[in-house]
Amino acid sequence: MSARSHTAVAGLAPDAERDIETKGESGAPPTHVAIIMDGNGRWAASRGLPRVAGHREGARAVRRAIEAAIEQGVGWLTLYAFSSENWRRPASEILDLTGLLRHYLRTEIAELRANGVRLRVIGDRDRFDPDIRTELLAAERSTAANTRLNLTIALSYGGRDEILAAARVLAAAARDGRLDPAVMEETDFTRGLFTAGMPDPDLVIRTSGEQRLSNFLLWQSAYAELVFQDVLWPDFGAAHLADALAEFARRERRFGARPG
Ligand code: FPP
Repeated sequence: MSARSHTAVAGLAPDAERDIETKGESGAPPTHVAIIMDGNGRWAASRGLPRVAGHREGARAVRRAIEAAIEQGVGWLTLYAFSSENWRRPASEILDLTGLLRHYLRTEIAELRANGVRLRVIGDRDRFDPDIRTELLAAERSTAANTRLNLTIALSYGGRDEILAAARVLAAAARDGRLDPAVMEETDFTRGLFTAGMPDPDLVIRTSGEQRLSNFLLWQSAYAELVFQDVLWPDFGAAHLADALAEFARRERRFGARPG
């Protein structure tokens, strides 16, 4: 990811949306749910189908997850669709995934707009073909006034790259005398992340039974509750989201404080 992708950090200007409350309360439903969508390949393999069939079904599950989030009152939903490491997959699979993304953008955006969904994209979009970049920007612009669900899709996203890019911008600001490292605060840093202006995730769900973060929202998930579900992403539906929200409700969140 290049520092130039980080429009939010230019000149360290205060972000207009920074006033969003980023710390949930114990007992409150999650404001922001983030999902690591995993298991498309295994879903396909278990049916003797090519991997692309799993990704296609995964795109249908994306639609279900968005509908379920709206129905279940989730205000912010972030989906990890493509990691910076996914570029290392075989060229044919990359072609399938980018083709699916292109198709998704052309067919689903009108629906998102009609359903009050605001789309944001985080990640290094510069690595995608120009037509996809244009569609992404158009989709973000045309849904920018929507408030029912804040949907973020992580594309070519890597948490360490994101943190490194933010650190570079701050280091340059310190070098140029625009920032005093001694008084630097967390907000100076978070302004440089792709997620500037977004609340941190309260709940991170990973499907397919794997139990890792895989470079997803590393900074932002510091206090997130993690829920790992034994469902392959293409089979994910409203009931799985409801289960994860119920599990979240059973957790006691302390944000590092002692039980009192
Ligand atoms: C993980 O399964 C899934 C991905 C790397 C891609 C996610 C893509 C989609 C859900 C469909 C397209 C999404 C949009 C927004 C159009 P995996 O391939 O790693 O599965 P495996 O671990 O079982 O091999």
